[in-house]
Amino acid sequence: MLSKQQNDLITQTGPGTPGGKLLRSYWQPVATIEEMPIGGAPMPIRILSEDLVLFRDDKDRLGLIGLHCPHRATDLSYGRVENGGLRCLYHGWLFDINGQCIDQPAEPEDKKFCHKVRHTAYSVQEYGGVIWTYMGEGEAPLIPAYQFLDCPEENRIAFRLIQECNWVQGLESSIDPSHTSYLHRMAPLKSPADAQLAGNPYYAEDTNPRLDIEHVSYGVRIHALRKVSGGKGYLRVNNYIYPGGTTPASSEPPPVSGYGGRWYVPRDDYSHTRFEFIYKHGTPVDKAAVTRTKQQHVGPDKRHVRRVENRYMQDREEQKRDDTFCGLGRYIPAHDTFAIETQGAIQDRTQEHLGSTDVVIIEMRKALLSAIKQMQEGKEAPGLLRDPKQNQFPDFICISDFVRDGEDGPAYCKRVLGSSPGGPTKAAAE
Ligand code: FES
Ligand SMILES: [Fe+2]
Repeated sequence: MLSKQQNDLITQTGPGTPGGKLLRSYWQPVATIEEMPIGGAPMPIRILSEDLVLFRDDKDRLGLIGLHCPHRATDLSYGRVENGGLRCLYHGWLFDINGQCIDQPAEPEDKKFCHKVRHTAYSVQEYGGVIWTYMGEGEAPLIPAYQFLDCPEENRIAFRLIQECNWVQGLESSIDPSHTSYLHRMAPLKSPADAQLAGNPYYAEDTNPRLDIEHVSYGVRIHALRKVSGGKGYLRVNNYIYPGGTTPASSEPPPVSGYGGRWYVPRDDYSHTRFEFIYKHGTPVDKAAVTRTKQQHVGPDKRHVRRVENRYMQDREEQKRDDTFCGLGRYIPAHDTFAIETQGAIQDRTQEHLGSTDVVIIEMRKALLSAIKQMQEGKEAPGLLRDPKQNQFPDFICISDFVRDGEDGPAYCKRVLGSSPGGPTKAAAE
């Protein structure tokens, strides 16, 4: 349970709020690279309660500037890309990627005051399959070079999804190790046409995993160890990454060859964008198959087809047959969207009752609150990187595997990380 003041601190992220200041200290993703092709249309972006427009100018340079024209507020995302910038349709004012007004065609030559008009503009960078922005003050840090971002394009695919609730609810669902045994439980398919819908039998075999938490340089490492058939120990290691990132281990049973990445970015305090990365070690992602599945489950509005307006298309017969625990189909991300959206636009954490299995949620909230406090005391946010030589994560591991007899999660990670200075070996990581 949190106090109202604590809940407000982590959930409010608009300009001038302590939580907003924390999130603005890091690079945040705004769009996938596929959404902003060369020659593509400008795109409205809502992020941290600010309305912006992302565009490529006629030299293919990326810009992210205020959505509403500083003349009389018309929406610039409808504008024309030409003459070195984005031109407003109302009176033709033109803005470059730095937000500088460079033309006011309706003003007489001797009355133009372009040089005095500088619109909101933020830095943007392409990296890891997405476009990132830095909305903070001062010099921007580095974008962290996690394995799933800093890899060949063929080993990763990125998507974007909008969820209609506060960003912390999305983040909490992604690091919660015990809900998988309930919300995502489903009868395994013998020969699934689509591995993404296969289900993991181990979630149901042990519904009460042993949880271990370790604080690491980039956030919190979370171990969930289940006792499963054949006396084996099945371990999933997920991570919370400052401030709104996670890496969930694959939901497919071992052997698996990769993991996921997530970045939860507030649109405002009542909705957020979930960036999802699917990463494979040393083997290409079958992008066509993954995209096909996504297109079946996510609408053109970037929201799941199953949504509150259709009661998430719950099928009580599917639930009675125990095909799935939830009756919400076999596509796991849609289960999570149901769980977090129905908590309310902003979950009232003063009314919850946490159990021992919520230890991960408690630790993540502590980390967030302590990061906000750190900044309120005038210190820098945690985990920021400025030296390219330090931009690596030798203590990072995200895995779904069987442990050795008697081994727990932390011992497994120590063995695997220790055997390969600089990170897990490819074989161990697989
Ligand atoms: S409102 Fe944009 S140019 Fe007038
Ligand atoms: Fe989940």
